Amino acid sequence: MVLSGEPVIIAGSFGQSLGVKISEITGIKMGKIFSGKFSDGETRIRIDEDVTGKDAFVVQPTSPPVNDSIMELMLICDALRGWDAGRITAVIPYFGYARQERAVRKGEPIAAEIAADMISSVAGSVITMDIHAQVVMEYFDVPSENICGTPVFASFFREKMYYPEDSVVVAPDLGSITRSRRLSDALGIPLAFTDKKRPDANISEITGFMGDVSGKRCILTDDIIDTAGTITETAAMVTEMGASKVYAFAAHGVLSGEAFEKIYESHIEKVVLLDTVPFDEDKDRRVRGDRESKFEVLSSAGIFAEKITEISSGYKFSEIKKYR
Ligand code: R5P
Repeated sequence: MVLSGEPVIIAGSFGQSLGVKISEITGIKMGKIFSGKFSDGETRIRIDEDVTGKDAFVVQPTSPPVNDSIMELMLICDALRGWDAGRITAVIPYFGYARQERAVRKGEPIAAEIAADMISSVAGSVITMDIHAQVVMEYFDVPSENICGTPVFASFFREKMYYPEDSVVVAPDLGSITRSRRLSDALGIPLAFTDKKRPDANISEITGFMGDVSGKRCILTDDIIDTAGTITETAAMVTEMGASKVYAFAAHGVLSGEAFEKIYESHIEKVVLLDTVPFDEDKDRRVRGDRESKFEVLSSAGIFAEKITEISSGYKFSEIKKYR
């Protein structure tokens, strides 16, 4: 691989605002791109500048509408190949399809693996953040790395809501214990956790709880808030168990369906998200009416900027052992 010229950031439609923030921090300029649709709905892409030999970073979360955003990412990477870009790194702040990392029932696909295969066919390497399950990183056939957004939450907590003596981190399911422990260790506060099962897609049912939340400020942590079922049910449960306040920290605010409505009706005082998925401010305004927003969106740009700077200065991805 021979790189020439300055590196470049190309942002897809869903990665625009994060791409600009990363560009401001790194000083890497944003490349010119046209993204539109043909009359029949097909995605149309054109990279409007010469990126031959350049180190290109494509910023695009594969967030809703998931199939459109994933296709746009693929087409951008291929258009860069058409220009003979020196290297293409897909920066995927939120990786849609990651929750389908295994076939739960016979007859179901492993959609995360298919999505990773598709991306590996056009990108030379991949960076993502707070992936739902680490196994998904093994599905990429190119060097890949999952970076962790916890330091952003930990700094926010320390600056804005530091009551370590009466706070507790609550993992809303067993799958989120490792992530929640990372935050509880960073903050030096205890961890409690819930056991949850999913009788069907997008339906969750709480089956058990371990830890002490009575009189405590509970920080519910999850990777994704999608329909907000998990987080609002856990909030109701800890409130019933005597929690004094409930906050939710999640990397990816997918917020589909009635998520905004559920959050405004819930006991959660504040939902703290990262900007890995574009936040729908209009919907927030519509749903909350005269009330104050419950949402606070923190930027992950600094963490991505650090990794992108390392990569463009010769960083080597760690070799991940494949076990497929
Ligand atoms: C599931 O295992 C994930 O970690 C999240 O808990 C889940 O995706 C949240 O989804 P929802 O907001 O629809 O309950």
